[in-house]
Amino acid sequence: MQIPFHKTHTTQEEIDAVTEAIKSGWLTMGPKVVKFEEKFKEYVGSDEAVSMNSATAALHLGLKAVGIKRGDEVILPTNTFVATAEVVTYFDAIPVLCDIEENTHNIDVAKIEALITDKTRAIIPVHFAGQPCDMDELYKIAEKYNLKIVEDAAHAIPSSYKGTMIGNLEKSDITCFSFYATKTLSTGEGGMATTNNSEYAKNMKINRLHGISRDAWDRYTTKGAWHYEIVDNGCKYNTTDINASIGLVQLKKQDILREKRAYIASVYNEAFKTLKNVQLPFVKDDRETSWHLYVIKIDNRDEMIERLKEAGVGCSVHFIPIHNHPYYKEKYNYNYEDYSVANRVYEKSLSLPIYPDMSEEEISFVVKNIKEIIA
Ligand SMILES: Cc1ncc(COP(=O)(O)O)c(C=O)c1O
Repeated sequence: MQIPFHKTHTTQEEIDAVTEAIKSGWLTMGPKVVKFEEKFKEYVGSDEAVSMNSATAALHLGLKAVGIKRGDEVILPTNTFVATAEVVTYFDAIPVLCDIEENTHNIDVAKIEALITDKTRAIIPVHFAGQPCDMDELYKIAEKYNLKIVEDAAHAIPSSYKGTMIGNLEKSDITCFSFYATKTLSTGEGGMATTNNSEYAKNMKINRLHGISRDAWDRYTTKGAWHYEIVDNGCKYNTTDINASIGLVQLKKQDILREKRAYIASVYNEAFKTLKNVQLPFVKDDRETSWHLYVIKIDNRDEMIERLKEAGVGCSVHFIPIHNHPYYKEKYNYNYEDYSVANRVYEKSLSLPIYPDMSEEEISFVVKNIKEIIA
């Protein structure tokens, strides 16, 4: 048996939706994108949703909308994908890395205040594996120092914090989702920024399409189609009706797909709870994770990956901390010792397959192999 680390959930419904989009003759941003944004807002409950071609794009324009400029400092966890730090560098601003919590692997909010200077402008909390960060504690700091909050919710659809869906937390400025191939809602490539601030939404809509005052769909459906003005130095970050057609189908299934992942997590939890040297993922009581990832901590992690690979089970590691990557280490001179928890967590973290279409047999196969290797 071969079990890949991830398999995308795509069915005939997605194929039919793409076929219909192509047959409609409108291949770029059009009515499907508009509908996808409408349905996405409805689902998370936000006032605004601005689709883009990736979460990286959404984070970039999110930071632009809240006013990040050259020389500003933006705080983010070191345990994240490079995109979270990279978007800060687009402004010649400085990514200031924060250590993480040992149990959730999320940013350790208790360590943020020590990093704040008179140049700090924003915090990017990353909801690792889908579990929301300690947002209330974060808002207290943001209010005290007048900082913006742009959430990296690449893993967090659907997730909720104290009963509110990620994407609609009142005190956040902007929330950014990813629809990359391995994500819980996938359009191949794609992203979405949600906000309850109409000015931010307008700014991102203009900047996702070259800084044009009206987007492609507006231009072709309203009078004076030829006329446009460039009002900002924007980017080419819009998504297409083809991608949005997949997104519309996937959006409808989000609750069911999450339930399937939650089920797999519960089977793993039960199977591994008595294993010595295995630490299970920890989810705080007042929040719900999307279960985008199932991450255990284990001794001899590298050996485990090799043995699982030989047995036919694909797995992964999330993440190599930002402060360990040569480019970031050299450019920003991060001190390895400042991230003792992240270093420890990284050494042991192992992400196991957790995708909705895993069969009972496949789940059991993963469990059996882990137990055998540990024994
Ligand atoms: C935490 C995190 N942030 C941002 C991204 C970037 O997402 P995208 O590929 O949609 O740009 C990823 C993608 O893996 C991610 O894991």
